[in-house]
Amino acid sequence: MKKGAQLELTIEKFADRGKSLAKHEGYVIFVPGAVPGDRVRATLVRKRKSYGEARIVELLEASPLRTEPRCSYFGACGGCKWQHVQYQAQLDAKTQSVSEAMQHEGGFASVPVRDTIAAADIYEYRNKMEFSFSAERWLTSEEIASEERFNLTFALGLHAPGFFNKVIDLDECHLQSGLSARIVNATREFAVEHDWKPWHIRKHAGFLRHLVIRQAGNTSDLLVNVVTRSHVSNRMGELAAFYQERFPEITTLVNGVNSGVAQTAFGESIHTIYGPGYLTDRIGDLTFQIAPNAFFQTNSKQAEKLYEVAREAGDLKPDDLLYDMYCGAGTISLFVAPSVRHVVGVELIEESVVNARENARINQIENVTFESGDMLKLLTPDFIGKHGNPDVMIVDPPRAGIHPKVVAQIAALRPRRLVYVSCNPRTQARDMALLGDAYQIDWAQPVDLFPHTHHVENVVRLTARD
Ligand SMILES: C[S@@+](CC[C@H](N)C(=O)[O-])C[C@H]1O[C@@H](n2cnc3c(N)ncnc32)[C@H](O)[C@@H]1O
Repeated sequence: MKKGAQLELTIEKFADRGKSLAKHEGYVIFVPGAVPGDRVRATLVRKRKSYGEARIVELLEASPLRTEPRCSYFGACGGCKWQHVQYQAQLDAKTQSVSEAMQHEGGFASVPVRDTIAAADIYEYRNKMEFSFSAERWLTSEEIASEERFNLTFALGLHAPGFFNKVIDLDECHLQSGLSARIVNATREFAVEHDWKPWHIRKHAGFLRHLVIRQAGNTSDLLVNVVTRSHVSNRMGELAAFYQERFPEITTLVNGVNSGVAQTAFGESIHTIYGPGYLTDRIGDLTFQIAPNAFFQTNSKQAEKLYEVAREAGDLKPDDLLYDMYCGAGTISLFVAPSVRHVVGVELIEESVVNARENARINQIENVTFESGDMLKLLTPDFIGKHGNPDVMIVDPPRAGIHPKVVAQIAALRPRRLVYVSCNPRTQARDMALLGDAYQIDWAQPVDLFPHTHHVENVVRLTARD
């Protein structure tokens, strides 16, 4: 079988990172965009020793798991890849992906994985979207086929899947509200009219870099962060006047500055143009102030379910000392604080720790202490001496997981219960394998915070062995 071969394939399942998997005479072939149960005619476009990749030429028989995607950019845009998959099938695939991560990355034969908890809203659920400006607009195949003439020197939207330099100009996005789409479209019109240059991703030139819209899930707050190469105060004044007239719903406008080459909306400085400079959202009974760059779960409604699972997993006692590691703006710490004696939260980003302390104050929660610093350097005997040995620990690291040295420190501290919350079950399983015999895994509970993507949050409960 050579590259370019035409094959008839039946898709067996979703595999790692949401890819669709088929087999041809035992050889594994990934088929982007296909759904388990599809029968397709496809061309082999990549051939490696142990696997290949094929592109669909014709859908011979559609899987019963398919459904109609809502978005007209579906397929071209990298925002969500599973809009064409029925929601229950998405949930089943997530449960399966957690089981497989536990087996393949952790070597655990039999972790009881519960069914993934579904999201109440499967569209318009994101409280944060980061759109990119680009001086090179990437056209979708529908746009090319339409033969319409487009301005190719300005785009504001999302990246094509897997391409850092290809931005699709979007006039709708169903991950956020219609209001968010109107702000995107009006910002584009304003920028083109005022001849503000979008960022040229390859030449590293231009003014406008990102448009971040943070729309609270449980309050009416809306923060807009326009990320530019430099802060030009009269320009921000003009934009502020425009927004205030057109969008009274925007409660605060900030200008993040990123003069570096990295394509990130995380600037080196933030200027508040109007409003308080932060977003206020609610999870459960708690109110949170969130700085423009502070981490906050992107699905506010589902975050509450996630934190409920984490609290249940902790099996908390009123006399417990709890450590909340990688605590962000203190969300989990404050959520569990009423159930324990004291919580110590640790977080790298100073700005988030300032938020966390302020959040404790506005929610009148006094039994929490927040420390800023790198986990790798912080968990010293002095730190333990100062705060005490934890009975329970909740860890919620970034996708890369926990540094092996920190895993070893956690194992040495031996809290009675360890709750591992993760947005990457693969690194989660890898880290848990390093705990060796110190802990037993009781169960895993995936929670869906990201419908139409293969991403999932997973909570694992571990108990120290005697
Ligand atoms: C997945 S977020 C979890 C935040 C919080 N638990 C929540 O639910 O909102 C991970 C957090 O870990 C922080 N972080 C990353 N590396 C760190 C490190 N080496 N030490 C301490 N915190 C770190 C990030 O800034 C981020 O706030």
